[in-house]
Amino acid sequence: MYDKQKIRNLFPGIENKVPLKNGIMATGINFDNAATTPPLLYGLEGIERFAPWYSSIHRGTGYKSIKTTELYDRSRERVLEFVNADKNKYTVIYVKNTTEGLNKLSYRLIKSRNDVVLSTSMEHHSNDLPWRSKCIIDYVDVNEDGTLNIFDLKKKIMKYKGKLRLVTVTAASNVTGAINDIHFIAKMAHEAGALIVVDGAQYVPHKKISMRGNSRTEDIDYLVFSAHKMYAPFGIGAIIGRKDLLENGAPEYSGGGTIKIVTPSKVIWDDLPMKDEAGTPNVLGVVSLMASINMFNSLGLDELYMEERNLTRYLMNNLSQLPVKIYGPEDVNNKVGIVSFTIPKLSHSYVAETLSNTFGIAVRNGCFCAHPYVEKLLNISESDMEKFLKNPNLEKPGLIRASLAMYNTKREVDRFTEAIYKICVANNIRM
Ligand code: ALA
Repeated sequence: MYDKQKIRNLFPGIENKVPLKNGIMATGINFDNAATTPPLLYGLEGIERFAPWYSSIHRGTGYKSIKTTELYDRSRERVLEFVNADKNKYTVIYVKNTTEGLNKLSYRLIKSRNDVVLSTSMEHHSNDLPWRSKCIIDYVDVNEDGTLNIFDLKKKIMKYKGKLRLVTVTAASNVTGAINDIHFIAKMAHEAGALIVVDGAQYVPHKKISMRGNSRTEDIDYLVFSAHKMYAPFGIGAIIGRKDLLENGAPEYSGGGTIKIVTPSKVIWDDLPMKDEAGTPNVLGVVSLMASINMFNSLGLDELYMEERNLTRYLMNNLSQLPVKIYGPEDVNNKVGIVSFTIPKLSHSYVAETLSNTFGIAVRNGCFCAHPYVEKLLNISESDMEKFLKNPNLEKPGLIRASLAMYNTKREVDRFTEAIYKICVANNIRM
């Protein structure tokens, strides 16, 4: 067991008091960690320590420039170790966030309009929309509990065999927390001659991820994640990807830092990963990401996940005593610490606003940039959505989401449960 107070001390501001609607100040609770996490103190200190040495990268001969370049280039090895990737096979391309990383992969990996990409109905929009505009896309269905339908995955992989360019799947859902067996999916994709892309945004901050499977067919080809969900909110994320397929081809963004030679009519692109990182890179973002990786390595992601799983179980048990409907897998072993629910007859925005205004608790509500998934979970058909398509400003159906992080406590879950109970009582909602 960790000393929770010591963990909480790593994150400035999490004990801050926030104003309630009645003017009283209350210690805030942040259950909105799936959207973004607070900054890690070590990351802030690291930036402060490094800032006086910060200078240009890959383009200067000054001492500071050399030191900055060394730090930036060496950091890629730390990322590769963090995700258990073979240095010879994979490169690290820094991006702003998962969304930018998946957009880049959609440009770089799709070869023709006729390529088929198999996504899933549980994806965040960032792992759906970038592919839609560039190729033929189909979606693997989900089961009633929001988990991936493996039979449908098998069926669709067989259906598209020969034309299937890649399978792209989230490692953990930002709506239900449901975890996918990415190595099993990798094996199926590879056996059909396709690649696998993994959206790691919601998984990497919670569980140890490995690019290596038990055999080569189970290896992951491309993984993308965002540092702002890993306590490093300074505009950095990473693609960890096979070098061989990115070595050729032009980057989707070009400009400074991407080339070896340019003449008025010719361009020779730089080597990987530089050609895929147009413009001056985000070194201070990398400093903060390194601090987060060091923190995860020293505390141990396996142990952190076990504690988070216990807290998630506690939260789900508490909520199950109340008149709420929880979405997603019941078994906490199949999920990260994300619990989405509805309270019958109450709008999700009312509940979320009341949690903030009356109780000082931050959650997210709505469809969480995963509209098709939430529509499925709520059993809303495409024709039901017509009225919202005609008037996008109408309040859409949605969920209330509590998402946990390593610093959240049982006491906070108790306060949250009590708040939900009081909201139910105030609105006459019974079991
Ligand atoms: N994808 C993030 C969320 O689920 C932003 O809130």
